[in-house]
Amino acid sequence: MPSPKGPPELKHLDHVLVTPAAIKRRIAALGAQLNRDYAHKDLMVVAIVNGALIFTADLLRQMRSPLRLDCLRASSYHTGTRAVGEPRIVDQMKLDVKGQHVLLVDDILDTGKTLAAVAGLIKAKGAASVRTCVLLDKKARRAVPFEADYVGFEIPNEFVVGYGLDFNERYRNLPCIGVLRPKYYGG
Ligand code: IMP
Ligand code: MG
Repeated sequence: MPSPKGPPELKHLDHVLVTPAAIKRRIAALGAQLNRDYAHKDLMVVAIVNGALIFTADLLRQMRSPLRLDCLRASSYHTGTRAVGEPRIVDQMKLDVKGQHVLLVDDILDTGKTLAAVAGLIKAKGAASVRTCVLLDKKARRAVPFEADYVGFEIPNEFVVGYGLDFNERYRNLPCIGVLRPKYYGG
């Protein structure tokens, strides 16, 4: 039986970086900012799944602007906790971005390669504007120059899981953002 306090995998965390209450407060603030910035615009939100799924679901419910949602899937080859090689778009969007104001949402900005590639692609398809929103920003890991327009939290250079972020597709359901104990990622 799962504990009433949360999934048993919470025990795999070395420590919690961002609590559920802090995530909730920050998403309310981001939502308010987006509502101001896009007050008179019809918005197309593009979530990079699976990682951005939970963040996007909570963020969208704070937003008052008329909007549509689409998803795309990007993938890099991974060895352990490190992405190697260039990200590839493996599942394309369904909606046409031409002439649209696009808000790209991802879970975390790490090397910057994924968002730089996807933002470039959407601009090339003729979007009217492209902005990016990430829950987490690991500035120390940047490999290409890229900054998000909206950032939930800046975090230190540690591999994190929870609230949509995974290790080997696990831990996405944790309600907080935390650092895995090394024995669980073989570090
Ligand atoms: P980037 O292309 O290096 O910026 O990486 C972006 C993707 O790598 C994110 O969308 C995540 O899926 C994954 N990623 C980067 N850092 C972490 C982490 O600390 N935990 C889990 N996934 C991560
Ligand atoms: Mg991801």
